[in-house]
Amino acid sequence: MSARRAIAIGVGVWCSSLPLFALRPPLAERIARITGLPADELTLATRSSRAWGSVLQLLVAWQVGAWLRRGDGLPLTRDALRSISPGQHAADIVVGAVVVGAGLGLLTALLTWLSLSRGSEYPAFDRLADRAGTRYARGSMTTWQFANAKLRSDPIYAQTLCEDVLASGGTLVDIGCSQGLMLALLAEARCETAAEASLPRFEHLIGVEVRAAVAQQAREALGNEATILEADATTAPLPACDAVLIFDVLHLLSPEQQWALLKTVAAALRPGGTLLVREANPHGGAGFAIVRTVNRLKRMMGGDRHGRLTFRDVPGWVRLFRDAGFEPVNDPDAHGPLNNVLYRLRLY
Ligand SMILES: C[S@@+](CC[C@H](N)C(=O)[O-])C[C@H]1O[C@@H](n2cnc3c(N)ncnc32)[C@H](O)[C@@H]1O
Repeated sequence: MSARRAIAIGVGVWCSSLPLFALRPPLAERIARITGLPADELTLATRSSRAWGSVLQLLVAWQVGAWLRRGDGLPLTRDALRSISPGQHAADIVVGAVVVGAGLGLLTALLTWLSLSRGSEYPAFDRLADRAGTRYARGSMTTWQFANAKLRSDPIYAQTLCEDVLASGGTLVDIGCSQGLMLALLAEARCETAAEASLPRFEHLIGVEVRAAVAQQAREALGNEATILEADATTAPLPACDAVLIFDVLHLLSPEQQWALLKTVAAALRPGGTLLVREANPHGGAGFAIVRTVNRLKRMMGGDRHGRLTFRDVPGWVRLFRDAGFEPVNDPDAHGPLNNVLYRLRLY
């Protein structure tokens, strides 16, 4: 499936370089219908060329076409340019666009395949990641690239789905769900066959996200398969639920907000429910330095001059969770290239 998705992106890039303008989307749809390539990804790549990129591409195509057709580049003086008929120029542009577009398409398909084919140790997860990633073709190219790169590179998703840390249940709430990547994987897990019965399945999926634009991206990816609430989780009430995920969110909050959020979660979780928290580990060396720097910069770009963050070490988080009514049921240890820590918690 990764290969077909990469080919679809490559063919879409090729279509986007043809001087067909409004005819590109119907051409992409027709190619998808004939070849069976994923239509969403093919049309995404077709409509994602940028204006300045198109102008540059047109000039390169013109030169390449002239060189291919007449064995010489375009003359650079006005008189010499005029000595070539408009029909010849048009033919140069068309031939050049087909060839340059094919080169760009091939290169993009190869790079896309390299990033999508990075498999985990769980074949079931790789299938889910492929299908979940396709959902983001309904948005922009940047959203698609970010979503697919994160699905493939962040170990938290495979860990949550395939390492027996989350039991199936009625309702799951993902706090700070961002674009809804975890929810998209869980929505896909519902469609897996009985052979993958160990995957967690939930009847209702709910995401809470404070940033309006990001919440909208999650809605576009999930449609009616999940409810995305645009709200500040530290003040909004949560629905009764069987599982709560808080991945990479608590350190963005002040100590008072962390406490308020954990108490709200404790009130919403049904007896026997699970809270999974993933947090950075201040003793995580270079991995932690990267997490802290990236988050600080994001904070400062969002208007917080000091880029304040509230990290805690493992004993610090465990103390806070216990005070809020949760008991760790795993031995929290660092995982992945960034040395993050997963805490699996139950109400006591
Ligand atoms: C690093 S991202 C988390 C990514 C996501 N949990 C995942 O695993 O893919 C942190 C997200 O939490 C959101 N967030 C931060 N504070 C929040 C709050 N008080 N209420 C709801 N969302 C919040 C941010 O907008 C951001 O999208």
